[in-house]
Amino acid sequence: MAQVIAIANQKGGVGKTTTTINLGAYLAKGRQRVLVVDLDPQANTTSGLGVDKNDLNRALYHALVEDTPAAELIVRTPYHGLELLPASPVLAAAELELVGMPAREFRLSRALRQLEYDYILIDCPPSLGLLTINGLVGAGAVIIPVQAEYYALEGLGQLIQTIQRVKKGLNPSLHLLGVLLTMHNGRTTLSTQVHAEVKRHFPDKVFDTIIPRNVRLAEAPSYGKPISHYDSWSKGAKGYKQLAKEVVKRAEKRQTSKV
Ligand SMILES: Nc1ncnc2c1ncn2[C@@H]1O[C@H](COP(=O)(O)OP(=O)(O)OP(=O)(O)O)[C@@H](O)[C@H]1O
Ligand SMILES: [Mg+2]
Repeated sequence: MAQVIAIANQKGGVGKTTTTINLGAYLAKGRQRVLVVDLDPQANTTSGLGVDKNDLNRALYHALVEDTPAAELIVRTPYHGLELLPASPVLAAAELELVGMPAREFRLSRALRQLEYDYILIDCPPSLGLLTINGLVGAGAVIIPVQAEYYALEGLGQLIQTIQRVKKGLNPSLHLLGVLLTMHNGRTTLSTQVHAEVKRHFPDKVFDTIIPRNVRLAEAPSYGKPISHYDSWSKGAKGYKQLAKEVVKRAEKRQTSKV
């Protein structure tokens, strides 16, 4: 069965999409079969993998709202082992349309049920609305990216509460896989302080891997490439390569400890 991991934080611009794309790419490089699900109407994951969101006749919206089988919507990427369930702008309408639908929180979970992958990564939008709830219900684990900036911890309490509420009422198997520090600048005391603060709040949960602030990571999406294929020698690439190893280790540990 696939390990399904939601990348979530209702705060905008913290590195959810960058993490989804590049973690996905390095998991795939490690011979895992990976599906990336773009659950954000901004469709940044879709375009970041070189797929034009305006060229899609059908996308994730159609699985969520119109029950189109997800397998019919998945597109291959040029990157071996990495496939994409893309978003198109109409996904923004789903947030409202889902409200009146039966089992509205379980639409994504149902859409992903029959798919055969090792890892499914879900890029959530920057809100705690129904789309993100669908992401958390469809996942077994959550990664929370936290930007190494002032106010980094703001809103995290609400996010943790939401995760706990989903776990209690909708998806008992959900757990926090880890908190990931992103856009870290080792030369600033602020980054170091934020790191210490996040560790204090989430002992045992912060990934050892810290993603540095690296311009190559910001450039790669405009070429439709993950960092593994844009600049594999960059510091950003090294960060996400290491993260992929850590994620596999944590996910496997979790699996064996269940038995
Ligand atoms: N480690 C990094 N170093 C430099 N730039 C980064 C890094 N991570 C992300 N960025 C850039 O920061 C911006 C926000 O990142 P990203 O889109 O991944 O965040 P997000 O949480 O998905 O945003 P949103 O909430 O809007 O979906 C993007 O322009 C991205 O290229
Ligand atoms: Mg994003």
